Amino acid sequence: TLKDNMENKISLELDTQNRVEIYFHGATLTSWICDNEEKIFLSSKSVFDNKKAIRGGIPIVFPNFGPWEKGPQHGFARIKKWTIKDSPRKIDDTLRVVLSLKDDEETRALWNHKFELEYQVILGVKSLKTNLIVKNTGSEEFDFTALLHTYFKVDDIGKVSVENFKGLNYIDKVKNGANEIEKREAITIDQETDRIYASTQNTLFINTGNEILTLDKNNLPDTVVWNPWIEKSKQMSDFDDEDFKRMICVEAGKVSSRTILKPDEQVAMTQTLKI
Ligand code: BG6
Repeated sequence: TLKDNMENKISLELDTQNRVEIYFHGATLTSWICDNEEKIFLSSKSVFDNKKAIRGGIPIVFPNFGPWEKGPQHGFARIKKWTIKDSPRKIDDTLRVVLSLKDDEETRALWNHKFELEYQVILGVKSLKTNLIVKNTGSEEFDFTALLHTYFKVDDIGKVSVENFKGLNYIDKVKNGANEIEKREAITIDQETDRIYASTQNTLFINTGNEILTLDKNNLPDTVVWNPWIEKSKQMSDFDDEDFKRMICVEAGKVSSRTILKPDEQVAMTQTLKI
């Protein structure tokens, strides 16, 4: 049931139909084979140089969502090398691995705080749970925003809808951060979309056109919906011009306000995907 522990990534195989792959670079989960089908988008042009963020999968955004005055956009967690904290093991009907990232000279040079991130990936039959735990291991408080930047694989963006957003406030990044209210029953994508929905339901439905994926989230109050559409796709060197048709990012996050963590405190944020 456990698979190899290669240099750059780790694979978990619960059975032949349910598998995941996670790169140590960014702890980016790049593949989730669920009931024998890939559910996660990974760009064929993604660069795997252990420097640039992987384009696709589930990059981990920490300690800052979006442009950051202290460092790279979306923080450093997605471009650091993580280590295994607890090797893959069977727990009941699931397979779990725990990865970890701690502060080092490079992170402290940008953001002078002591922390540990623990990332538990729990693979079940037709389910994938990712639990991100932030711990303050220093003697001073810090604040952060965090998000699981999940790229879902779809066959045709024109058939995709994301449900459970009606009546919610959102910030429209495509319209210079305008505050809007969602009026639609379901979000569909026919243009560049980059929105931060605040205080979304804990259960969201992603209708890929073929099936409905359920995203259950805990302590991740906000949801970013992103699709670069035609022009932005052309501008991204690690993304195919046509890739916008094959993906949608639905990103569960804690981004509307900064979370403050005092010394010795920790906070867990969890996402569970199911078909
Ligand atoms: C989304 C942001 O979360 O990530 C977008 O809301 C951004 O504004 C997108 O373009 C991709 O970011 P990056 O840094 O991976 O190109």
